[in-house]
Amino acid sequence: MKKLLVLTGGGDCPGLNAVIRAIVKRAEQENDWQVFGSIEAFNGVLREPKEIIPLTNRTVSGIHVKGGTILQTTTKGGPFTWPVQNDDGSWTTEDRSDEMIDFLKKEGFEAVINIGGDGSQRISQALYEKGLNMIGVPKTIDNDLSSTDYTFGFQTAVEIATDGVDKLVTTAESHHRLMIMEVMGRNAGWIALHAAVAGGAEVCLIPEIPYDIDKLVKRLNQRYTAGKGFANIVIAEGAKPKDGTVVSRKSDETGYQNVRLGGVAYQLSEQLKAAGFKHDIREMVLGHLQRGGKPIAYDRVLATQFGVKAMEMAMASKFGEMVAYVDNEITSVPLKEATSIYNQVDPQSFLVQTARGVGISFGD
Ligand code: F6P
Repeated sequence: MKKLLVLTGGGDCPGLNAVIRAIVKRAEQENDWQVFGSIEAFNGVLREPKEIIPLTNRTVSGIHVKGGTILQTTTKGGPFTWPVQNDDGSWTTEDRSDEMIDFLKKEGFEAVINIGGDGSQRISQALYEKGLNMIGVPKTIDNDLSSTDYTFGFQTAVEIATDGVDKLVTTAESHHRLMIMEVMGRNAGWIALHAAVAGGAEVCLIPEIPYDIDKLVKRLNQRYTAGKGFANIVIAEGAKPKDGTVVSRKSDETGYQNVRLGGVAYQLSEQLKAAGFKHDIREMVLGHLQRGGKPIAYDRVLATQFGVKAMEMAMASKFGEMVAYVDNEITSVPLKEATSIYNQVDPQSFLVQTARGVGISFGD
């Protein structure tokens, strides 16, 4: 029997369970593979007692429709940064990768499939360089990985954000208000841009196109005087004004800086008022609603394809690679390349041109 370990790392994302189910189902078609799951990313392997559970057809039955991950996930711990408490009570981290690799090899694990975003895939690459047979599966609602055209979870997040715009339009119209809805995406504007186009927002603010507050106020005032009397803004959490003003920021492991959720919608509201916008404004942060709940059909299909592909890569001993969706094909790319470029919206792209073409302003 060949043993395979599966785990989910980083933030959760609709479609994770569909990937796990596809891996297990494909593995069970072969008689010589047995799949195990590590609870909370690699922490299930690192902590005592270990939390490594067998995954069978029965365990994964029907889970493809569920949000979250049956294996649970975390952004803390891991083989390279295991938390250790010092004698004085302070915390430090320790590299336990060698010990973990030795354990997995001793236990006869042939391969490890790591389902995660860019941070997780950097860990996959580092472990692969140390001799562990790693396969990556990309996940993120942000769609900010450059080596795959789409990640599962993204379309579900867009659906939820679009529903948000649809709902805010009717209340904005009833009250003659300006509604500002903040969506996720880290430093990429994919969710905001898609939701703005799909929902028909008047303004879309994304990190890739810094906005000018005075131009924005002028544009909104024109809309009000033209008789519309209400407006909707979709703002990505990483959006910033041209003058560079930012709210509280946190760094992430990519070196990019993230605006704290809930920051930019309120910041924009204050900026608009300060710049002379006189109408009623309400702010709304969609937050983790975008990551919860069941995946839409598109994401279930993509996630299922990713799972089957990852299992087939394990059977073919194709290690050090990450599954990818490129030009309508499910393929794979070297892990090393998978996270090398951060995928942001191209301001010259046809989607941005389309948004402008239907009158959406980027405030630039
Ligand atoms: O990367 C996914 C994501 O949801 C981002 O869009 C967001 O910035 C971040 O994770 C939120 O992280 P947390 O769940 O740790 O607050």
